[in-house]
Amino acid sequence: MTPSKRVSTPGVGMSKSLEQKKIEQIENLPTLPEVANKLLKIINDPTTTAVDVANLISRDLSLTSKVLRLANSAFYGIPRTVTTVQNAVVILGLKVINTMVFSITVVKMFPGDGRNEMFSRKKFWAHSLACAVLSRQLALRMRKFTLFDPEECFCAGLIHDIGRIVLDQYFHENFLKAIQKAVQEKISLLQAESDVFGFNHMDVGDWLTSRWELPQDIRVPIVYHHAPSKTEYAREITTLVHLADSLCYDIGFGLPGLETKPAVDTALVNQLGFTQDDLDAVKASANEEIEKFQAAFEI
Ligand SMILES: [Fe+2]
Ligand SMILES: [Fe+2]
Repeated sequence: MTPSKRVSTPGVGMSKSLEQKKIEQIENLPTLPEVANKLLKIINDPTTTAVDVANLISRDLSLTSKVLRLANSAFYGIPRTVTTVQNAVVILGLKVINTMVFSITVVKMFPGDGRNEMFSRKKFWAHSLACAVLSRQLALRMRKFTLFDPEECFCAGLIHDIGRIVLDQYFHENFLKAIQKAVQEKISLLQAESDVFGFNHMDVGDWLTSRWELPQDIRVPIVYHHAPSKTEYAREITTLVHLADSLCYDIGFGLPGLETKPAVDTALVNQLGFTQDDLDAVKASANEEIEKFQAAFEI
C-alpha cells in the first residue's frame, strides 16, 4: 500500500494558520481502530494469508460476528453458510473482507442519531451506504481499463461525506448554524460550511483520512468529490464517486432538507464512458443492493 501523504485540498480561501488552528481543535479526532488499521496495511502484501487475516479479526468478537453476518448476507450471495472468518476470506477474498471490516469500524465510530435534529445520522449513513453501493456497481460496469477496484470504490463512497459527521460531532453548534444558513438562504450546505467555518466537509475528510493514513486512491475522492476537475491524481475514481453521489439523489438516498443534488461535471463523467443504459441499470438494481447490505449491517 502506498503510504498516504496529505492531499492538498480545493482552495477555500483559508489561511494556513486558521487551518492549523482548526486541526488542533480536532486533535481528539478518533483514530482508526487497530484491526482495521492493520488490515489496511497488510491488504496488498502478497504474503498475507487467510489465516493472518482471520487471526487479526478474531481478536475482536463483535467484529467477527458482524463480518460473518455480512459474509452470509444476500449482498454477497454465497450459496452455503460461512462459519469462520478464514473461510470468508478464502471465498470472498481479502479486499472484500477489508471492505467489511472498514465499513463496520467506521460506522461504529460515529453511532446513534447524534444530538442534531436537523442532521439525522441514520439518513447520513443511508446516503453514504447508497453512495458506496453505487460506486461499487459503477466500478463493476466500467468497460474502460482502469486501475481502481470495486472494493476501493465502495470504501471511498462510504466515507465520501465523513467530514460532515465529524463537524456534527466536534463542531456541533457551528454545524447547526451552517445547516440553518443553508436552509434559510437556500444555498448548498457545502457553501454554508465554507461560510461558517472557513473550510468544508471535504477539508475535514482530508484531515481525518490523513490521520488514518488511508491509501491515496480512497482519500482523493473524499477530498475532491464535489470538484473532481481539481485533482489530476485519481481523477477517474474521484469522478466515479462524484457521479455516485449525485445518483443517490435520483434513487431516494439524498440528504433531503439538508443538501440539494450536487451539480455534476458532465464533461468528466462522460469520460468514464458509461451509457445511459449503464446508469439506468445501476440505479434500477441499487435499492435492492442497498437493502441487502443494510439488513446485514443494521444501519
Ligand atoms: Fe459531499
Ligand atoms: Fe454525498
